[in-house]
Amino acid sequence: ALITLRQLLDHAAEHGYGVPAFNINNMEQGLAIMEAAKATDAPVIIQASRGARSYANDIMLAKMIEALAAIYPGIPLCMHQDHGNDEATCMTAIRHGFTSVMMDGSLKADAKTPADYDYNVAITERVARMAHWVGASVEGELGVLGSLETGESEAEDGHGAEGKLDHSMLLTDPDQAVDFVTRTGVDALAIACGTSHGAYKFSRRPDGDILAMKVIEEIHRKLPNTHLVMHGSSSVPQELQDIINAHGGEMPQTFGVPVEEIVRGIRHGVRKVNIDTDCRMAMTGQFRRIAAQNPREFDPRKFLKPAMDAMRDLCRDRFEAFGTAGHA
Ligand code: G3H
Ligand code: 13P
Ligand code: NA
Ligand code: ZN
Repeated sequence: ALITLRQLLDHAAEHGYGVPAFNINNMEQGLAIMEAAKATDAPVIIQASRGARSYANDIMLAKMIEALAAIYPGIPLCMHQDHGNDEATCMTAIRHGFTSVMMDGSLKADAKTPADYDYNVAITERVARMAHWVGASVEGELGVLGSLETGESEAEDGHGAEGKLDHSMLLTDPDQAVDFVTRTGVDALAIACGTSHGAYKFSRRPDGDILAMKVIEEIHRKLPNTHLVMHGSSSVPQELQDIINAHGGEMPQTFGVPVEEIVRGIRHGVRKVNIDTDCRMAMTGQFRRIAAQNPREFDPRKFLKPAMDAMRDLCRDRFEAFGTAGHA
């Protein structure tokens, strides 16, 4: 059954677990997520980016979610807009059956000027008010996803990194987080703790200098009742890099967010954990493997089925590690 983010994260907080939010762009990813949820008896968050919506078409996505809910009636399912950038994106998502939206006013607030902050508060408050009128939930974001290693902010807006930023500018300020949540009324708050989107997060296994889990602990101390969200939370497993590279891929060595660090975050208020890259890599590893091992193959299902199975296994591992399993 479809449920809101608020309902799901309230339950997660009460029982002390986290929920992975997996991105969807097509039927295969939807089936993989739901198969994993069914196998582990876990509730799910499925999220679509603006890119996913234009790739798959809003009507296709809406019907796909309806179909997934019908195929798996026992699994609580939250359908969420990932990184909405304005009111229109958020409202049209709700119109198409999404039960939750992210209004990411931090996309325009990388410089952390007072004007940027005011913009973020104002637009997020507006979206939260509108979404709540019609029973949908809202996630806001405060902070800059970017690398603490290089000091580069991520091209969250697609316009390229802005250049070197002070470490402290990348991390969410705990006092500002309190002000932001109070003024906007968001149901969940995405924070920045040194992660970034995509596969190339860290050039070494991250330690406390480049992955600032301490910031999460401090925000949770100040906002014990706020559901925290970690973006850029793919672990970029070595074995997935190896499968891709063993079959013609050329991904440079890279490191993601260790699952243990996410689990530590879950002990300190993290309830939603965004994962896209790991799923992409799980599928692509199988595309490459089949293409390399069976060059005569041309039936797309022969590529898509192993890819779906690999994504399902990845999702199942996260449901188990985050404690989501058993809570459907
Ligand atoms: O936030 C980033 C997600 O991985 C979605 O990526 O915009 O390429 O669909 P996308
Ligand atoms: P990853 O690129 O680490 O999977 O992060 C996904 C994300 O944050 C989507 O909003
Ligand atoms: Na941001
Ligand atoms: Zn994100």
